[in-house]
Amino acid sequence: MDEKKVMLSGIQPSGDLHLGNYLGAIKNWADRAEEFDCYYFMADMHTITVRQNPADLRRRTLEQLAQYIACGLDPEKNTLFIQSHVPAHAELGWVLNCYTMFGELSRMTQFKDKSAKNADNINGGLFTYPCLMAADILLYQPDFVPVGNDQKQHVELTRDVAERFNHIYGDVFKIPQPYIPKTGARIMGLTSPESKMSKSTPEGCVFLMEKPEDIQRKFKRAITDSDTENCVRYDPEHKPGVANLMNIYAAVTGKSYEEIEAEFSGCGYGRFKPAVGEAVIETLRPIREEATRILGDKAYLESVYKSGAEKASYVAGKTLRKVYKKVGFVAR
Ligand code: TYM
Repeated sequence: MDEKKVMLSGIQPSGDLHLGNYLGAIKNWADRAEEFDCYYFMADMHTITVRQNPADLRRRTLEQLAQYIACGLDPEKNTLFIQSHVPAHAELGWVLNCYTMFGELSRMTQFKDKSAKNADNINGGLFTYPCLMAADILLYQPDFVPVGNDQKQHVELTRDVAERFNHIYGDVFKIPQPYIPKTGARIMGLTSPESKMSKSTPEGCVFLMEKPEDIQRKFKRAITDSDTENCVRYDPEHKPGVANLMNIYAAVTGKSYEEIEAEFSGCGYGRFKPAVGEAVIETLRPIREEATRILGDKAYLESVYKSGAEKASYVAGKTLRKVYKKVGFVAR
């Protein structure tokens, strides 16, 4: 019997993967396969809560898979799949809709943010999004869900819904824990350190596949601070721009804030910013090269997502059958 603990996470292919996705999530997924049974997916069903261009969505879903592999997720050791290929997500999603309260969904920060940004398309899916996310998670009975800080609230709601269900029907779901990294959990925009790095502000966002010269230009233009101190010191409250760059540098080099302060003591931002840019470029270079190579092999990608969906469907099907039985559906 497999005694390994289970890890699961997903990313929406609604835009190109960026440094926030990498440091907040993917970086903490790689190299876990010896210790955990790992499931990672492209959350394509979630993306249509906001209008998508179909051709772009298809292309980005495959690019995301190539980038997952290039980031170190070996498909032989990790189950990599496309969410819409495993119908159990939609099926359990519906059931969980009926065990999640209107008030709970109304409190979700992502719903409030996205409905403010898409005022002409506040659809039902956007509102019930966390029920589908809870289904994504609970189907695989994971112990840990490695995500950035902004997804913590959704994982906590998942726990509440699972506990509610278990309370009624007995032990059906394992209660998962969010796994949030110490550095990189919340990367802020390079041009707007008060809001999280996101594809919607491209000039402040570093994409995984971006050219080195473009990455360096973005770091050189990064907002530091309006103070006249010009000193690399970790003070998120008064120096959010510098703190964000330090967070990025710490996440890619593994150095502590004290070590970074010592390294740049007396140097000013003029040397610090390009050094962070350089460290990021060197981290992303092998990923970009490998992802480009893998993307050229469509047959390989197809074999990966097909066998991923097969394995995922098997595991998800077991949980779904149990849930259907508990709620009183006649067995197929
Ligand atoms: P998504 O697609 O917005 O983001 C994917 C992952 O990247 C992290 N992240 C960040 N981390 C640090 N700094 C940032 N600026 C930053 N931006 C994004 C997110 O926290 C996330 O871990 N609902 C999810 C996708 C999802 C999912 C799931 C995740 C669907 N089903 C089941 C886990 C388990 C989302 O929209 O993430």
